[in-house]
Amino acid sequence: MKLINNVNDIAHLYFEKIISDGDTVIDATCGNGHDTLILCRLAGSGKVYAFDIQPSAVEATKALLAKNGISGAEVILDGHENMRKYVTEDAKLVVFNLGYLPGSDKKITTAEETTLRAVKEALELTKNGGYISICAYLGHDGAMEEYSSLKKFLSLLPNKGYNVLEMKHTNRKETSPVYILIEKI
Ligand SMILES: C[S@@+](CC[C@H](N)C(=O)[O-])C[C@H]1O[C@@H](n2cnc3c(N)ncnc32)[C@H](O)[C@@H]1O
Repeated sequence: MKLINNVNDIAHLYFEKIISDGDTVIDATCGNGHDTLILCRLAGSGKVYAFDIQPSAVEATKALLAKNGISGAEVILDGHENMRKYVTEDAKLVVFNLGYLPGSDKKITTAEETTLRAVKEALELTKNGGYISICAYLGHDGAMEEYSSLKKFLSLLPNKGYNVLEMKHTNRKETSPVYILIEKI
């Protein structure tokens, strides 16, 4: 068994720990819908919102959910920085998978400014005891700027209100992906 082979494996371990049936959860970067599908299964009778700016990603996510017999998720063609236009209730978990969609246009990536705005929105939605999970890929154009900006912001979150954890593989190259989990205390 490979438990921590990549940052997604680590994220999924936390998804299972955090999400219960009935929870509201948000996939802020749904891409091909792999995370959205896991979130829907774990949230059960709850509500899943998924966002992406690419129509092809929204369609792929909807198709993957339909293929797996899941209905009721809201898959939204809009930027995650606008998530509070659509989600008004508290969320248990907001999931970010930063970077570009594998197998798609590598120039369409998450971006420093909108990611930061979206994480601030996610902090509002999880302020009553929720979590934010972030997988950050560091190898593409703009990724380091996005990560540095995010890290600077997160390092200033008061430690009486938040636990912020960062993990990466120690025996891989410096630009290997990073996993971040934010817990509202
Ligand atoms: C690494 S991929 C996500 C992969 C996805 N978790 C999956 O399971 O397939 C990053 C996604 O973020 C999307 N994205 C980029 N900027 C965005 C934004 N402002 N709001 C929402 N999604 C965005 C991209 O279109 C891309 O599909």
